[in-house]
Amino acid sequence: MITRRDMLLSGVAACASLAGCALLSETRDARLPEAAIGNRQIVLTARQRSLALLPNDAPLPAWLYGEQPFPVLRLKKGEALSVTLRNELSEHTSIHWHGVRGPNGMDGVPYLTQLPVQPGAEFSYSFVPPDAGTFFFHPHCNTAEQMGRGLVGALIVEDETFDDDVVLILKDWRLDEKGRFLPFLTASGASRGGSFGTLRTVNGRPAPRIATRARAFVRLRLINADPTRIAQTGIDGAEASVIAVDGNAVAPFALDTWRLGPGMRLDLAVRTQRNKDIRLLDYFAAEPVLLATFDPRDASHGSGDASLNQTPQPDFSGAWRHTLELGAGVDANTPPNPPPIVLPDGRIVDLADSLCLAAGTFWTLDGKSWPDRDHKKLPPPLFSFRRGERVILDIDNSTSRAHPIHIHGHTMTVLSASLLPRPVHRADTVLVLPNERVTIGFVADNPGNWMIHCHVIEHQETGMMGWFHIS
Ligand code: C2O
Ligand code: CU
Repeated sequence: MITRRDMLLSGVAACASLAGCALLSETRDARLPEAAIGNRQIVLTARQRSLALLPNDAPLPAWLYGEQPFPVLRLKKGEALSVTLRNELSEHTSIHWHGVRGPNGMDGVPYLTQLPVQPGAEFSYSFVPPDAGTFFFHPHCNTAEQMGRGLVGALIVEDETFDDDVVLILKDWRLDEKGRFLPFLTASGASRGGSFGTLRTVNGRPAPRIATRARAFVRLRLINADPTRIAQTGIDGAEASVIAVDGNAVAPFALDTWRLGPGMRLDLAVRTQRNKDIRLLDYFAAEPVLLATFDPRDASHGSGDASLNQTPQPDFSGAWRHTLELGAGVDANTPPNPPPIVLPDGRIVDLADSLCLAAGTFWTLDGKSWPDRDHKKLPPPLFSFRRGERVILDIDNSTSRAHPIHIHGHTMTVLSASLLPRPVHRADTVLVLPNERVTIGFVADNPGNWMIHCHVIEHQETGMMGWFHIS
């Protein structure tokens, strides 16, 4: 049977460029525009486009990768990704493939893994993503504004198939009462929990209704692409099992609620019944907030197995162990002459563009702040590892805010946590609550320069960011 989504996928697959593809500009429900990109070259054009989020407001000057927000790029495990980023913005940008253990030169971090893509220029990303899972992509410089205006997309690497598979991008928008953008980074927000969005949306729509298959196993792929908000996600109206965390399969367990911080993903399997609504809620506040409603219609033939292939946890015996401090305040001791950074292609970066440096400093990572604009240089690495070294970090949050800590190019194992109970699981972003200590381990097996930072983007951009080197 050919579903509407199959038609959309095959239609889109025929288009060389997402931006030029008419099919992408009309999805009939709140599903995101999808493209099957495996083993074919596509172009993503980052450009200002007007976006009407609410019918009565003037359109926003959004920055998007397609005519609509949040394209979903799908490929099968083993297929090659080949995406040319064309920059038609007025400032430089890049694409970071969040959570993907790709080659360092494709990681999209300006000055650390590549030079930024200047206005009018292009950069081609091509590699074979090694793991199946739910990933996303976004810029990595002036990120609060670039993500805040809409530069976000999903990357789905498929392995097992479900009766239905729905990508849900949680992202709020900072709008004033006339529906215009508010500043994306504020000192009062950055020094606290971040500047929250005023309009909550899923797939760019406030509390959308999304039609799904009935009598089916539906896979919901939740992606928190908000720069700031930690949602406490839960499902009402059906039993939901957690099947993957940050794209990594887990032994399925029943979902109660899950704290989904910025940068984190959660895959759920939900059993649907015909005409019985299922709701996705944020239970963080006393009064739960409705994020989306699923409306199960056409019955599927119902295959119905919800388990995914799991990767065994590595052995961390003999690991190098270190306490990573998450701190508030400013590090006064930034070395005046950090060494130049060697990009994966051998080029040497010395002086950094101020756009990628911190906008003032409020936060520290391991006692150091990413240098602010006045320092004009990228800092030295926090750590240097030999390839294959095993690492255990006790992440110690002595601040009064929660920090989702994200590591590039690697998958960590969350081993234990002192406050928020969670099973041992693999992840690329781990939420560390105020005054919590979370122990993670990873094998430093991917050579290059890798970021580690808080994914509350205003925390990242005001100091809680660093990098490490693997030789
Ligand atoms: Cu999603 Cu370094 O980020
Ligand atoms: Cu933080």
